Amino acid sequence: MDKLYLGTNLKMYKTSGETLAYLKELVSCRGEFPLDRLELFVIPSYTALEKAGEFLNGFPVTLGAQNMAWEDKGQFTGEISAPMLKELGVTLVMLGHSERRHVFGETDEMLRRKVKAAAGHGFQTLLCVGETAAQKAAGVNREILRMQIKQDLSLLPEGKERNLKIAYEPVWAIGTAGTPAASEYVQEQHRVIRECLYELFGKTADEIPILYGGSVNPENAPKLIQLPNVDGLFIGRSAWNAKKFQEMIRDVAAVWPGRDAIQS
Ligand code: PGA
Repeated sequence: MDKLYLGTNLKMYKTSGETLAYLKELVSCRGEFPLDRLELFVIPSYTALEKAGEFLNGFPVTLGAQNMAWEDKGQFTGEISAPMLKELGVTLVMLGHSERRHVFGETDEMLRRKVKAAAGHGFQTLLCVGETAAQKAAGVNREILRMQIKQDLSLLPEGKERNLKIAYEPVWAIGTAGTPAASEYVQEQHRVIRECLYELFGKTADEIPILYGGSVNPENAPKLIQLPNVDGLFIGRSAWNAKKFQEMIRDVAAVWPGRDAIQS
């Protein structure tokens, strides 16, 4: 992969004002970004998107939304559509985050329609997949990934796979109650994802970044980024302090295997 992908989902933690302050601090350390091939993305709450979009205009930080409806308009109270997000400068949509699937009951049927809508509107799609602790214990961790990927991408229009990123986030590894996944386990799950993408898209699968997420922290991040098929990291808690996130970016970039190819 010729780029390093690092991003954060702010979940429901920062108000619009707090998000703006966070972004200001994040870009103020921009000179320290060690690589020009870094793709950095931030996914704030809906209410922060407008101000964030205005502020980030011109900065190399991709603005993402945490969810999106599958229809453009209609009787969908409480939902936000693709045209609404586009208007605010959003270019990336995260779909299928573990909390959407497991707290709000989003199904693969809903997700495949959302993936289709996001692709149709030209968004980058960050599709999150991952097994629960029970599924892991039952030994179906690989099957779950394959099922989620194949179902959720089943309506993706041909050629749109180039706008796709996959985040592997084991449900049991996410958040304050999460346990960080072991490197060997992450490596195997990412291999399964790449193999599945090959089955769907052939050689283009090599161009689809696969990010790891779930209790990524300053200690494990540099190790995780060196694993085969780990093209980036998707970070929650450890990225919500802009300075600390910058330090992680620097440390991860310093050991990122793609670094040498870029500098030569
Ligand atoms: P965490 O969150 O890094 O705080 O575990 C990850 C996520 O939910 O994407």
